[in-house]
Amino acid sequence: MTRDQRRVASSRVVNIADLRRLAQARLPRAVFDYIDGGADGEVTLRENCRAFQEVTFRPRNAVAVGKCDLRTTVLGAELSMPLLLAPVGFSRMICPRGEVLAAGAAGKAQIGYVLTTISGSSVEDVGAASSACRWYQLYLVGGREAAEAALVRARRAGFTVLVITIDTGTFGFRERDIRNGAGALIGNKLLPKLRFLPQLVVHPGWLAAFLRDGRMLTLPNVIVPGRGPMPLAETQAALAASVVTWKDLRWIRNVWPGPIVVKGVLTAEDAQRSLDAGAAGMIVSNHGGRQLDGVRATLRALPEIVKAVNGRAEVLVDGGVRRGADIAKAICLGARAALIGRAYAYGLGAAGEAGAFRAIEILRSDLSRALALLGCESVADLGRSYVDVPASWATQPL
Ligand code: GLV
Repeated sequence: MTRDQRRVASSRVVNIADLRRLAQARLPRAVFDYIDGGADGEVTLRENCRAFQEVTFRPRNAVAVGKCDLRTTVLGAELSMPLLLAPVGFSRMICPRGEVLAAGAAGKAQIGYVLTTISGSSVEDVGAASSACRWYQLYLVGGREAAEAALVRARRAGFTVLVITIDTGTFGFRERDIRNGAGALIGNKLLPKLRFLPQLVVHPGWLAAFLRDGRMLTLPNVIVPGRGPMPLAETQAALAASVVTWKDLRWIRNVWPGPIVVKGVLTAEDAQRSLDAGAAGMIVSNHGGRQLDGVRATLRALPEIVKAVNGRAEVLVDGGVRRGADIAKAICLGARAALIGRAYAYGLGAAGEAGAFRAIEILRSDLSRALALLGCESVADLGRSYVDVPASWATQPL
């Protein structure tokens, strides 16, 4: 067993909060806060988690269920459980080759992995790390030509589904990142990095790995014509200047032959627009509370979207999933599967691939136990009758 594997296999690591604690100890504050933080007052970030607590279970007791079947399919791909790893920007800042290691963990667990455009690793390296379902998430940073080239490479590298994120009209105001000066950490100027020295010297393990991993300062999947890979430091400005619109979706439909999933749907109106644009799936998401603070929790938005879609596309949800029981609740409310971002990023920060894998396996055993205690034999049998939802959810928008 490696040191990383031992660290996360300890009997003191039983839930995602424990991995979060380990990540906090191992990462410089600016990196930990980048993962952990949200936009503005972090109201939506907290609401995402709280909404799961408001939904309560209605178990069928005295039912012997034996071994629960967690398997499902998402857009035709088989998953060992209804879970995908959400796109997490700058994963390579969390640990060297972060995206490759996260995809490797997903592959071992036979669950889905979604690679972000804001990746420090190439689609080829990430694609080769997993044989399970791999999706590519596209931002239009670098322009359409760069995007088209990335899509050709992604498809060749085994990515079968394209995810389009629609909630980044500009970059969210992440107060912790601004206070920490997190942007300077990924910039290519040395002097502004000096402010991190006190944080870095007390995290020598992370620092040594960061320095060894010299290649993280560009986006190898965003090749700007005539310029080469886009520098990581330009990402935020490029994102704000390259909002994806419904018009772009029509263009993307023509250049990507596979299924398209729209991420960032929070209203029945946008669900309908996604269907009109030909989406095969959508992710009910508020970007983990990192974009517009004050939007409602994704679990609360989920029933509205499921109703509007009415079986015409697959509906997934992310935001606030910290336990397997949360996945069960999302499925009961109509999601095909859930995605996790922070939950596995804490694992990556704590112990690289072993940590990400541990996060997935914690959620797997949680989910299996939740099903057994619900008296439900398989995720396919989960449904609305297994949960109670507060009456106020039907009448109040937030
Ligand atoms: C990027 O998409 C982020 O949320 O940091």
